[in-house]
Amino acid sequence: MSEPEQIICADTDGVAERAARFIGDLSLSSIAERGRFTLVLAGGSTPKKAYHLLAARSIGPAVDWSKANLFFGDERFVPFDDQRSNFRMAHESLIGPAGISADRVFPMPTDRTTPERAARAYAQTLEQFFEVQPGEMPSFDLVLLGLGDDGHCASLFPHAAALAVRDSPVTWSPPGVLPPPVDRITLTFPAINAARHVLFLVSGANKADALRDVIAGRAAPTERPAAGVCPKSGRLTWLVDREAGRLIDAR
Ligand code: 6PG
Repeated sequence: MSEPEQIICADTDGVAERAARFIGDLSLSSIAERGRFTLVLAGGSTPKKAYHLLAARSIGPAVDWSKANLFFGDERFVPFDDQRSNFRMAHESLIGPAGISADRVFPMPTDRTTPERAARAYAQTLEQFFEVQPGEMPSFDLVLLGLGDDGHCASLFPHAAALAVRDSPVTWSPPGVLPPPVDRITLTFPAINAARHVLFLVSGANKADALRDVIAGRAAPTERPAAGVCPKSGRLTWLVDREAGRLIDAR
């Protein structure tokens, strides 16, 4: 992996604006190089702002959604129209307003009987789309991630069994300590680390401790799961606001 890049923005809006620009730029180069753009969406409040900006085409280069394919990094095991669903959030903020065609969107299938079955089905969806063998990791162009104040990313929670899954791009997890208390489906470390780019969007003072631990290499992935994100041959970029980044240089 090349050296991670850190970009400090003034506030949450600044992070969302920079993220929208980053996504637009990367969509152009991905489509130019490979004819398509594979983007993994995150849940969370800062990504949501970035999705609104992307849909409004108000910042940076507009994404050609007819050549983009949208996946999800994690999902709460709730119906698609539930208030807690990441798919619902993405639909309301981006997919609907930008008019993205349903055949370009790959939600995690929370209509299965168990989260384990949903995870297995999503792994198959990825295998088919990326034309890889079972257990082989797909290479997304861009994985968006948020950081929880406990250091989790996607739905990879501290000390969870999901952290150790190596043989599938997707697994499931009981909830961590942060709400909502519902089972999750999540990409695994090997899937995230096979991406060409990983972009963290981090804002708010409550993230400062976790962010410092991860960036300074102070914590193991079992304690602060985001420390396990290190793309094998891709790039890692941190978009951080001042409040979240205030301890980064403190030793
Ligand atoms: C989710 C997320 C989760 C989120 C972080 C940060 O489903 O909740 O995908 O990993 O990104 O908890 O969320 P905020 O950006 O809202 O703080």
